[in-house]
Amino acid sequence: MSDNVRIEREDNIGLICLNKPPVNALGVALRTSIYNAFSELLSDDQVKAIVLYGEGRFFSAGADIKDFARAAEKPTLPELLKTLNDSPKPVIAALHGVAFGGALELALSAHLRVATHGLKVALPEVKLGLLPGAGGTQRLTRLTGIAAAIDVICSGRHLSDKEALSLGIVTRVVDGTVRDAGITAAKEVLTGELKTVPTDSLRVELDDAALSAAQDKLSKGLTAPQRALEAIRAATLPIDEGLAKERALFMELMQGEERAGLVHAFFAERATSKIPEASNATRTIVRVGVVGGGTMGTGIAAAFCIAGFPVSLIETDAKCVTNARATVEKTLAGALKRGKLSEQDHADALEQLITSIELRELASVDLVIEAVFEDMVVKQELFQKLDTLCKPNTILATNTSYLDINQIAAATNRPDDVIGLHFFSPAHIMRLLEVVVADKTAPEVVATSFEIARRISKIPVRSGVCDGFIGNRILTSYRKVCEYLVLDGADFQQVDHALTDFGFAMGPFAVGDLAGLDIARASRVRTAVTRPPEERYSRVADLICDQGWFGSKTGSGYYLYSDDKLTGPNPQVQAIVENERAALSIAAKSFDDGEIVARCVTAMIQEAVKVLEEGIALRPIDIDAVKLFGYGFPKHRGGPLHLADQIGIDTVIARIEDYSAEDSYFWQVPRLLRDMVKRKQTFSDLNAQYDATGKNDGSKA
Ligand code: 3HC
Ligand code: NAI
Repeated sequence: MSDNVRIEREDNIGLICLNKPPVNALGVALRTSIYNAFSELLSDDQVKAIVLYGEGRFFSAGADIKDFARAAEKPTLPELLKTLNDSPKPVIAALHGVAFGGALELALSAHLRVATHGLKVALPEVKLGLLPGAGGTQRLTRLTGIAAAIDVICSGRHLSDKEALSLGIVTRVVDGTVRDAGITAAKEVLTGELKTVPTDSLRVELDDAALSAAQDKLSKGLTAPQRALEAIRAATLPIDEGLAKERALFMELMQGEERAGLVHAFFAERATSKIPEASNATRTIVRVGVVGGGTMGTGIAAAFCIAGFPVSLIETDAKCVTNARATVEKTLAGALKRGKLSEQDHADALEQLITSIELRELASVDLVIEAVFEDMVVKQELFQKLDTLCKPNTILATNTSYLDINQIAAATNRPDDVIGLHFFSPAHIMRLLEVVVADKTAPEVVATSFEIARRISKIPVRSGVCDGFIGNRILTSYRKVCEYLVLDGADFQQVDHALTDFGFAMGPFAVGDLAGLDIARASRVRTAVTRPPEERYSRVADLICDQGWFGSKTGSGYYLYSDDKLTGPNPQVQAIVENERAALSIAAKSFDDGEIVARCVTAMIQEAVKVLEEGIALRPIDIDAVKLFGYGFPKHRGGPLHLADQIGIDTVIARIEDYSAEDSYFWQVPRLLRDMVKRKQTFSDLNAQYDATGKNDGSKA
């Protein structure tokens, strides 16, 4: 007996119940407990068959990701699984909820697997920069054949109980409790009604065509899926050789930066909800209002509709109302088609969606999100009206991208109810939600906003008020450095190419075209009055806009477009750039791709550190989450501050000092970086320090 497992006996069946909340992660403690429990049941002559099952919401989430450094402590997972597999008594895994990664591998090493309805299985290790390292590539492949194993292992996707059944991963799926399902199966095994099939005894045919096709598809991608393919190929070898090959590849990936980045991203997704206001009571949010039915308002309305909220969407005139409603309906139809909404939920969402020109429709809502034009006067006027007509305690949120939320709040008599809820386009898809806390926002409004984010499946990150908040502020620095690179000699296509090679889905100039070059120009016009004279300013984007080229929507920008499809670079951009260089007497230099990426990443890190120093972000991992889940920062790089740790703080400082010889205004070493070097600290240390003390030590380091 131990705290982590419970041993039970029922007739001649021995049961081991995994009981290590919250997710039955298979760290060394649980592995040891299972091993000891198993030994006890093996040596008990009364016990003829052994069932493993899980307590709580699910069987197990697999290996303990927090404890990867201790994964080699004995009994290792492969050692434990070999013991189960070699057991002279039949071993049955009874699965419910979730069996992911090492947990599915554990089940695959048992002699039979049964499930209750609703089970999801997966080998998601590639999403953590790994491959299944405890027999998954060998045993699943033996069960399903090579093509199906490639699909499951190289994608890491979740499989439903139905699919698990059809692939032979489980033998049956039943109603009732998982414990009963295990006992029934064990009894049938003992009477011979059910056959056990140890996976190791199966053989698999080489499927060169499937492996080569997958290899071609993966050749430019991440390392983990490629190594997984090698391991799957090894499933055609005798089991011990295949397992040894798999383990060697697993250990290699464990040391890699890809694994470190993806694991950091996994924890970033979960860390951001730990905020100082978390313990506050939350307000009840039933009905939601959205003002402005343009790009963002319709996406936000759809996100709430999909989550089951009744929504009232307000526009300025009948035509805008009709358009906005049509857009939301189209998004909901898409969600229905993709299986994100059931028929019933889709019908309910439509029924509960009110579209109107009457602001008074919002009199009874519990939360209003404003998504009207990015104009302080327009927003302040609207907030004054909302203040008057909304009931007390209604949360008044703005989706502004850059504007000062304290000023918006000041237009009301209830600034404590005002908060920024900054969604990203397309709002029903993008996971990030910046929750921007103004000076007077009430803690319960913050706590409620985080609760709402959870209900609409967003990743909320707490931000303070500054121009552009966390994400757009860092984006502005990144964009500036890209423009400087072009002015100084790099080709814009090379910049885009270098950054897509680094892992961004699109380069900055292609993104600019997609978002609309006029939008970025409007923001530059807004900040022109406060732009310091020392700041370098590239006019290239303005000159492109002067031609009426706003990007894909106008058919040209940095690139040319036909039917919204990029057809090639706009040849006239080069001439604009060269004229600008000549006007500024800039002698074009060449930059290699590595230098381009180094400058862009360093600019992001520099701005991110300032954001941290100013207390705008709570901790480094929050900034990483913003960039990972809202701005397409490559997940396997872990975010700018995780990357800064990998690069080394000394090196980051040396780069900034080096670049500052060219532009000492833009490139300035933030004080926090120097303090961190003195204290021999990394951003990972700052994250840990925040967890321990609840304080952002950036400003005091
Ligand atoms: N190890 C350690 N901690 C884990 C964990 C794991 N495998 N899975 C989840 N957790 C932690 C989370 O970090 C979170 O901690 P927190 O409360 O301190 O933030 C807590 O458990 C609850 O997790 P969620 O918030 O994600 O809870 P959900 O109920 O939303 O989801 C889940 C549960 C579906 C299990 C989801 O957490 C998940 O998908 N986990 C990852 C599973 C995974 O990738 N497993 C493979 C591990 S690698 C492996 O097995 C290697 C092997 O091949 C040798
Ligand atoms: P948009 O121009 O597409 O839509 C704005 C809509 O608001 C228009 O349909 C307009 O008719 C309506 N509107 C204006 N005044 C109104 C009023 N008083 N009452 C009701 N409706 C009114 O603009 P978009 O892109 O949707 O942006 C809206 C807000 O979201 C802005 O503050 C913007 O900065 C912010 N934002 C935009 C993002 C984007 O990618 N477009 C991303 C995140 C935030």
